[in-house]
Amino acid sequence: MRNTPINSEVVKLKIKESGLNDIGKATIREIVALVNQIQEETGDKFVRMEMGVPGLQPSQIGVEAEIEALRKGVAADYPMLDGVKELKQEASKFIKNFINIDIKPESCVPTVGSMQGGYAVFMVANKCNKQKDTALFIDPGFPVQKQQFKVLGQKHTSFDIYNFRGDKLRDKLESFLKKGNIHSIIYSNPNNPTWVCLTEQELKIIGELANKYDVLIVEDLAYFAMDFRTDMSVPGKPPYQPTVAKYTDNYVLLISSSKVFSYAGQRMAMLCMSDKIYHRKYPELEEHYGADEFGYVIVLRVLYALTSGASHSAQYALAAMFKAANEGKFNFVKDVKEYGERAKIMKKMFIDNGFFIVYDTDIDKPVGDGFYFTISYPGMTSGELLEELLYYGISAITLDNCGSDKQGLRACVSQTQRTQFGDLENRLKRFKEDHSSSSEL
Ligand SMILES: Cc1ncc(COP(=O)(O)O)c(C=O)c1O
Repeated sequence: MRNTPINSEVVKLKIKESGLNDIGKATIREIVALVNQIQEETGDKFVRMEMGVPGLQPSQIGVEAEIEALRKGVAADYPMLDGVKELKQEASKFIKNFINIDIKPESCVPTVGSMQGGYAVFMVANKCNKQKDTALFIDPGFPVQKQQFKVLGQKHTSFDIYNFRGDKLRDKLESFLKKGNIHSIIYSNPNNPTWVCLTEQELKIIGELANKYDVLIVEDLAYFAMDFRTDMSVPGKPPYQPTVAKYTDNYVLLISSSKVFSYAGQRMAMLCMSDKIYHRKYPELEEHYGADEFGYVIVLRVLYALTSGASHSAQYALAAMFKAANEGKFNFVKDVKEYGERAKIMKKMFIDNGFFIVYDTDIDKPVGDGFYFTISYPGMTSGELLEELLYYGISAITLDNCGSDKQGLRACVSQTQRTQFGDLENRLKRFKEDHSSSSEL
C-alpha cells in the first residue's frame, strides 16, 4: 500500500469499481461520481477542480426579481416562446452597453441555458445548405457541445488552436473552409478549458472568413467580460467584451447567466442572433422545418419543440440583472473577480511544485487568471496525471477530453474555497516529493 494523502487502496478500488477502462477518457460527470465515492469512503475532502460550477452566491438581484415574479403568479402561465418583452429589451441594451454592438430585442431569445441555445442553433445550421453538413470547432472546447453533436448525429471537425495563434489562424481555418462543407465555426471566448482569449486580430480573421465562405460563427460568451486583464464592467464605456460581431454579420452569441451571474441552477441564457441572421431566409430550411427564416425556425420550430420556452420566473431574474447592470447599479464583473484572484494563487502553487501551465500565453501576453487554467507534469500523460492526482486528493479533467493535442489537465478554480488552499499546497508538496524523479525525465 502506498503512503499517499488519500488512502491508496480505496482510490485504487474505486477506480476499478467505476468500470472506467481509461480514466483519462472519463466525462466530467463520471469523474464527479468517482470522486464523490472516494470522498464518501475515506471521509477526506478533495480539492475539486473537475467541474465548472459557480462557487459563489447567486446574484441577489436575480433571486429577488424571480421571487417577485413567482409571487405575481407567472408560474401558472406558459411564457411566450421568444421571451418576455422586458428581458429582450434589457438584453439588447446589455449587448450595446458591454459589447458595443446593435442587436434588436426581437433577435435576443431566452433559452434553457446556453446548452440549449447552442443545441438549437446546431439543429438549424446544418439544415441551411445541403453542401454544408459539418461544424468546425476551434478547440480546445467545452466537451458537452461535442456530446450534443453525438446526440444529434451530426458531423463535426476540429483543430487545436495551440500552434495556430495570430496570423497562422487564417490559413488553418481556410484549410477547412475551402472544402465547402463547413456550416459553422464554434468557440468560447474566454475559452473553456484553457482560458485563452482570442485577440482582436484573430477575431477579425474569423469574421473576414465568415464573410468570405458564408459560414455562421457561434460565439460562446459563457465567461462574458471575465478576462480580468481588462475592466469591462462600465456600461457604455470601453473596453468592451471582444467579439467577432465587429467583423461580420454572420454570427450568433450565446450569453449565459450561469457563470457571470452565478445563476447556473436556473438554466437561463440568451441566444442573440445578428439581426441579419435572424431574418435571413434559407430556402432549404423550408423543406425540413416548413419555414425559411433562421430566427423564426429557431423560435417557432426548434425551441417550441424542445421546451416550449424558458422558465418564466428565471426570465424576470435575468431581465432584472441585465437592467441593474445597464444602469450601472450592479457591477457583475467585480462579483466574479474572486475567480481570477483564486487562480493566481492556485497557479503559483502548482508551478512552485513542478507543474507547468500548458496554454500559457495569448500570443505575446501571459494568459489571464480566471475560471480555468491548464496544467501538465513532466513525464506524465493526461490520464496518468489525472489518476495520480486522485491519490493526492485533487481532481480535474483531461485536456484530451476537450479536443486538445496536449498532455495535461483542465483545473477549475470555482469550487476551491480559500480555506482549502492549505490542503492544496500540502498535497502538491507531497506530490512533488513523491515524483521528483519523474520531473527530471
Ligand atoms: C463554454 C461554455 N458554454 C456553455 C456552457 C453552459 O452554459 P449554460 O449553463 O448556460 O447552459 C458552459 C458551462 O460550463 C461553458 O463553459
